[in-house]
Amino acid sequence: MSPGVATALADRLGPGGWLPAGDIAAHLTDFRKVFTGSALGMARPTSTDEVAAAVRICADLGVAITTQGGNTGLSGGAIPSGDRPTVLLSLARMHTIEAVNAARSTITAQAGVTIEALQQEAVAADRLFAPDWGARGSATLGGAIATNAGGINVLRYGNMREQVLGLEVVLADGRIWDGLRALPKDNSGFDLKQLFIAGEGTIGIVTRAVVRMHSLPTAHRTAFAALRSLANLDELFALARSHSPGALSAFELLPEIGVAQVVGRYGIIRPVAAVADWYVLLRFSGADRIGDNLLTMLSTATDAGLVLDAVVAETTAQEDNLWLLRDELTATRSFGGFGVKYDLAVPPDRIAAFLRTASDAVEHISPGSLPYAFGHVGDGNLHFTVLRPGDDATLEADAGDLRAAIDRIVWDFDGTISAEHGLGRELRDRIAGQKPEVELELMRRVKRALDPEGTLNPGVMLPDD
Ligand code: LAC
Ligand code: ZN
Repeated sequence: MSPGVATALADRLGPGGWLPAGDIAAHLTDFRKVFTGSALGMARPTSTDEVAAAVRICADLGVAITTQGGNTGLSGGAIPSGDRPTVLLSLARMHTIEAVNAARSTITAQAGVTIEALQQEAVAADRLFAPDWGARGSATLGGAIATNAGGINVLRYGNMREQVLGLEVVLADGRIWDGLRALPKDNSGFDLKQLFIAGEGTIGIVTRAVVRMHSLPTAHRTAFAALRSLANLDELFALARSHSPGALSAFELLPEIGVAQVVGRYGIIRPVAAVADWYVLLRFSGADRIGDNLLTMLSTATDAGLVLDAVVAETTAQEDNLWLLRDELTATRSFGGFGVKYDLAVPPDRIAAFLRTASDAVEHISPGSLPYAFGHVGDGNLHFTVLRPGDDATLEADAGDLRAAIDRIVWDFDGTISAEHGLGRELRDRIAGQKPEVELELMRRVKRALDPEGTLNPGVMLPDD
């Protein structure tokens, strides 16, 4: 069966369209090297018709398909498990931006285009493509849609879901659904595209999309503030909101232990002299008066004793340094090694309380291990990781107990264990505890209806029955 599928795909997709297993090692492990898998080879179609043909070939031969974008996902959803014969499908050769429509404020593009390319294309049209996160240069439109990716601008512009106006999808049987109709209003039945967004390639393969552009803010101002105490976080957020009518575009929490690492690694001058446990990086984006509003807000916050010290970036270089601090803050880059990692969300006003409860649990279960947290506080989204620099073995031994306890705390706080990275291979067996049985049953029914043979990305997202 396996040689058959390789030959058939190589014939159909032509030169460069098929890479054998031996040539794709870099695609069989994720960039953090947490998940590895195996595949028969990688199909590299150049058009939607070729994707459809590849899907039909695999379906006829009972071979599974895992679609991979930039391979910078964090939940293992793009790495085939290797439990059954699987073809890896890359849309890297489908990276054309087909249309930029300024009048409609939309871009139509193939799924293999990067987020950064879309951002640049929008700016060239004097518009903003809002999704943004550290991996902007590798993450693809298709991957971002498949995971409903978030990032630092969600606070103002919403998740990937809010950017998508239309989709083209190749279904499990090889049919093509042209859902590119991109109307601001369309109540003609189920909004099917929403099923494929965050679907992690388990019910269809996104090949093209129409996404929104927003007006390009004419000014940005970024500030960095040292919090007196985590207990002041909510009040600072409320203050930032009230001083920025519609203009607060990011509100990120940074821990001193992470800032110290990045400052050391890049030789950056500390943005403020005060050393606090926690900092906030925030940005106002808009037009008139945002600089004045930001300064007023920070002096009010200082007078109220919420922040110890704060600075507003005056130059592009200063601003870039502040955002470098944020982009480079991931636990892996700061400390390496093993981590018990979460991309969780709780209601935004419960971030500080959650951190206290979760940190107490870590101390109780694994004394001496280090809770490390940063993230998109304005969205209630924390990247929370338990680390134990220099002693992975102890943390690995405690990991099961830590996961069980922290999962439970997240749910007790009415939260989710996957905010913006998806479930992938990492969380599929743990999500059952978060959802009522009826919800899981509906998800399984959708999967069975759209992929009855279970060909698309098996082992990802859905817990087994
Ligand atoms: C970030 C990724 C980890 O926010 O989501 O940097
Ligand atoms: Zn994030």
